[in-house]
Amino acid sequence: MRIAMIGTGYVGLVSGACFAEFGVEVTCVDKAAEKIAMLEAGRMPIYEPGLEDLVARHRAAGRLRFTSTLEPALEGADAIFIAVGTPTRRGDGHADLSYVFAAAEEIARGLDHPALVVTKSTVPVGTGRRLQRLFRELRPDLPIDVASNPEFLREGSAIEDFLRPDRVVCGVETQAARDTLAALYRPLNLIETPILFTSIETAELIKYATNSFLATKITFINEIADLCEKVGADVQQVARGIGLDGRIGRKFLHAGPGYGGSCFPKDTLALLRTAELHGVPLRIVDTVVQVNEARKRRMVKKIVDAMSGEVAGKRIAVLGVTFKPNTDDMRESPSLVIVPALQAEGAEIRVHDPEGRREGERLLPGVTWCSDSYEAITGADAIVLLTEWNQFRGLDLDRARSLVRQPVLVDLRNVFDPERASRAGFVYTGVGRPGRRAGA
Ligand code: UGA
Repeated sequence: MRIAMIGTGYVGLVSGACFAEFGVEVTCVDKAAEKIAMLEAGRMPIYEPGLEDLVARHRAAGRLRFTSTLEPALEGADAIFIAVGTPTRRGDGHADLSYVFAAAEEIARGLDHPALVVTKSTVPVGTGRRLQRLFRELRPDLPIDVASNPEFLREGSAIEDFLRPDRVVCGVETQAARDTLAALYRPLNLIETPILFTSIETAELIKYATNSFLATKITFINEIADLCEKVGADVQQVARGIGLDGRIGRKFLHAGPGYGGSCFPKDTLALLRTAELHGVPLRIVDTVVQVNEARKRRMVKKIVDAMSGEVAGKRIAVLGVTFKPNTDDMRESPSLVIVPALQAEGAEIRVHDPEGRREGERLLPGVTWCSDSYEAITGADAIVLLTEWNQFRGLDLDRARSLVRQPVLVDLRNVFDPERASRAGFVYTGVGRPGRRAGA
């Protein structure tokens, strides 16, 4: 089979490479010629574990191609996937669909055979229906079918998520669309992946409801963490205790500095706008958005309190600034709120992040970038762990203690063992777990 993937951002590139792994012939299209040139030179525009190898392998096999013009990609394509960005529209929180519709218009103009157009981009309920109307208007001569196939890829484990998903959701209206998508995902039958065929509206809503539910789960445990701190309970154990109940599940119950990234913040807002348009209050999601925003600011107070209420003139080592590990993505990262707030209070910030520097230099002016953790913490009055990169888990706390000026450790991801940190001489503050005095 043959497909075109429009957009070589996170979703498009990973999905394109993974469809090639399924044996499909894939042409990825992106208007940004410099991105295509980069990909053709074997370099990845984003950091994602395993992606470079996967792309190289399928390019070499001739199954994966890149182009900056649409026509060659449309040639003979059974399906055309739209995987362009749908950022938050400035000012009103709605998803900005201008790239989706620009792509759709180009497809309508360029197609010379009946085909299926599939939205992989996260698009609000009703978008598929609008695309159907657009195609009928622009190409009354050609049957262009529409389907919705939302992605559930986590940055950092996107390839695994594509190749071994919990489920695949396909919103379709015709048997032909169903057959095409079933054929594209056929390799997943071997691992008995549930493939759900629904209406287009249902598929579109499943995507938003999934992300909003996960954001709710995280926000729930974050608030429970706050309560744990007051009553002397340990949120890690609470999370385990509730998560072992099969009805709740263990995943996405890690308390931290609040969710970030390119999806949860954007999708929760967009769902709220859709609900508003239809006059349906979604009070839970509304509260989740507000609590999460407030949380990032709360973390600043937590750090300042751990430093005896004063950070002016002090040096803070920040470990990790990306919104989560195994990505270079800084979008909506809690660090973008926390670091500038500490700077505004007069702190000097030194940062180490394994992949975040390139983006971070632009987004976090005035910080000192260090090439490893130990360089960052040298002479620090506090170490603040913001992102749980694996390499931070292995930090030698005794060595760290010998390098800092003040032994204050604020662990916003509960990575370190409080007892071990205390034995190394640190005053330890975690999230939702009892703090520890040094040597206690
Ligand atoms: C998320 C979803 O997990 C994917 O299924 C979805 O496809 C994707 O959005 C999308 O819509 O494109 P992603 O944003 O890459 O993926 O990252 P997550 O791993 O979900 O983490 C999101 C945020 O929640 C991060 O800031 C992370 O640190 C935070 N988080 C996650 C917690 O604070 N606690 C947890 O238990 C889990």
